[in-house]
Amino acid sequence: MNSAVDTSASATANCDDFESDFNPIHLATLSTPPRRLTPGAALLLLQQIRIVFERYVTGDPLRSNLNGNADAALKQMQRVCSPWLIRLLDRSSEWEENEETEQVVGVLSDLMAQLCGRTATAKVIRTWRFKSTELVIQEPSFSEADIGFQTWGAGVLLAQLIDEGAVNVKDKVVLELGSGTGVTGLLCAKAGAKLTILTDYHPAVLENAKENIVRNQLSSEAQVHALDWRWVASSSPTAVTSEDQFPHPPRSFELIIAADCIFEAEHAKLVPMVVDRYLSLTPKSEFIVVLPLRERWKVEFADFESNMLQRFRLEEKKHLNREEDPNMDYIMLIYRR
Ligand SMILES: C[S@@+](CC[C@H](N)C(=O)[O-])C[C@H]1O[C@@H](n2cnc3c(N)ncnc32)[C@H](O)[C@@H]1O
Repeated sequence: MNSAVDTSASATANCDDFESDFNPIHLATLSTPPRRLTPGAALLLLQQIRIVFERYVTGDPLRSNLNGNADAALKQMQRVCSPWLIRLLDRSSEWEENEETEQVVGVLSDLMAQLCGRTATAKVIRTWRFKSTELVIQEPSFSEADIGFQTWGAGVLLAQLIDEGAVNVKDKVVLELGSGTGVTGLLCAKAGAKLTILTDYHPAVLENAKENIVRNQLSSEAQVHALDWRWVASSSPTAVTSEDQFPHPPRSFELIIAADCIFEAEHAKLVPMVVDRYLSLTPKSEFIVVLPLRERWKVEFADFESNMLQRFRLEEKKHLNREEDPNMDYIMLIYRR
């Protein structure tokens, strides 16, 4: 297991000295064309670039407190790394086509997108390749969709587990909370769920998810509805559902999923209430959630776990990592009534 990024160090880091995080070999490599580089050697340097990027700029606005310096650090990283990354992309076309090359190109493309400053860019369309299928996902801009602007690692991880059959959605009616761009819910739809309802609270995120359903030709298998967790908390458990909120009756879902849904103190209280409202009473009904273990939200995660245990039984707890994101630890929790 990889250790989590030390965000307290990030918070005090000075972007003027970030080049010292590269050793002389890294810097020498970055200043010479990657003509003879093997995929393996390229991957090592790409991983170091990512560590430095996360420490000073961060691709994850929920992890960093560095907002004041992040822009300056991003510019410096663009100056030091971008020309080399572009040449590496060029060089990669000469490598043998195999799994290692595919992995390096994946990391490289991610890094280039992040160095462009994803939070500052307009919509992008990305293709996510899973073992058995692929999804084409549009990500809106940060200015229009706030935190739902990108596809988050936890969402991709849960989608991978579904794709690989580790999480079974076949023939189930699935509710996704805080679905963002929709990668996880749409994977459920592809993996044989009877019906998947993607929900979020943000109008631009919901609109974008609808477009992603159409883009992936999943209109018969998936739907989008507004479901604001705060609405659930402020309405009575038997409240009549409404078109503009959520047209499904309480306790009507045998599987509820969520990824990266705890990043404000109130979420720790709200999400368990939403699950309690909509999870069916049958004993096999499950809530499956994948969370990135961000140091910054440690207290909220602990609150969330304790609030869940007041209503549900913890069936399974598993630590996970993503190859593409070695500095972040994830956790999958499965609850039943
Ligand atoms: C970090 S993103 C994760 C998105 C997606 N699950 C993924 O992994 O890519 C959190 C999502 O929760 C949604 N969200 C935040 N507060 C919410 C609320 N009160 N009700 C419903 N959704 C909410 C945001 O709009 C955003 O799409």
